[in-house]
Amino acid sequence: MKKTDITQLYQEISEQLSAAKDAQALEALRVRYLGRKDGEVTKLVKQLPQMSVEERRTMGPALNTLKRDAEALFSETLERLSGAKKKRAIDVTMPGKKIPVGHLHPLTRVEREIREIFLAMNFSVVEGPEVESEHYNFDALNIPKDHPARDMWDTFWLKTNSKEHQTKRAERLLLRTHTSPVQIRYMEQHKPPFQIIVPGRVFRYEATDASHEVNFYQVEGLMVGKDVSLANFKFVITEFFKRLFKKDIAIRLRPSYFPFVEPGLEVDVACVKCGGKGRLRDGGACTLCKESGWLEVMGAGMVHPHVFEAAGYNPRELQGFAFGLGLERIAMIKYNIPDIRLFYSGDLRFIKQF
Ligand code: PHE
Repeated sequence: MKKTDITQLYQEISEQLSAAKDAQALEALRVRYLGRKDGEVTKLVKQLPQMSVEERRTMGPALNTLKRDAEALFSETLERLSGAKKKRAIDVTMPGKKIPVGHLHPLTRVEREIREIFLAMNFSVVEGPEVESEHYNFDALNIPKDHPARDMWDTFWLKTNSKEHQTKRAERLLLRTHTSPVQIRYMEQHKPPFQIIVPGRVFRYEATDASHEVNFYQVEGLMVGKDVSLANFKFVITEFFKRLFKKDIAIRLRPSYFPFVEPGLEVDVACVKCGGKGRLRDGGACTLCKESGWLEVMGAGMVHPHVFEAAGYNPRELQGFAFGLGLERIAMIKYNIPDIRLFYSGDLRFIKQF
């Protein structure tokens, strides 16, 4: 036996293995070369004891290497063959991976629902800037400087570098505290009759708690014409709540005060949880309306003549109603949400419920 025989045998095994098409052919080759009884490699190893000491010294290690290399080659080939098999076996009937789909924030949903309801009643949807001037947010709405009513809206005033802004007080900038300034902006640009709603973000410099946020959303309403009356308001708003809560729902108008309306009103709806009774069916106290049977949902009233004047209208020829509702408040009632801060928490456990 010569060393070249060993090299040749390895060569042969290697060629045979790369030609092997499947695991069965591979097993046959394994028996043929590495088989315990008659494997070619085994037979050579078995000849070792008959060799001279000299021969054994060179052939021994050479045969060991051959055996080890051949074994490695077999397991590599087995891996190749079974890997190829796995690749071929794509089960096209398996369901695909589900890609998680996002969905709308509860506030977006409620806002869109409100838009739809008013659009169906022939209202237009308009928007206005979040950074406002003192003029639109206050003065033009019959809230002059130093008027105590300004305390109703804790305001974020903006610092500005512009000389003009620092000197002309009327042009001081702020983050709008309500959507009412868009009433003025719209009337300056349009002739009545019209009816609009204004959804938008507003800001109040207040401490947050379960029912107050520093920023929140309002939907303003404004309808102006020759003879738009409080009766029209009552109809529109009753219809709105009926469509929003998908059932007949009693409303109540209470006298209130806002500088830009006269008379001013607060609108209540019958509590959606206890049906206006103040008590739940099991006799327990209704926590949603605090046993009053009513939920306060919006401020409203007949547009003040000063507001018409500020917008360039003649108050003797026109009248109209305005209202403002808090979007979060409506969503909290509709979905029984206990804390306004949840809307902005970014907590998926909350968001995913809608
Ligand atoms: N702008 C008022 C507020 O934010 C709400 C309101 C709007 C009241 C229109 C009357 C009329 O409190």
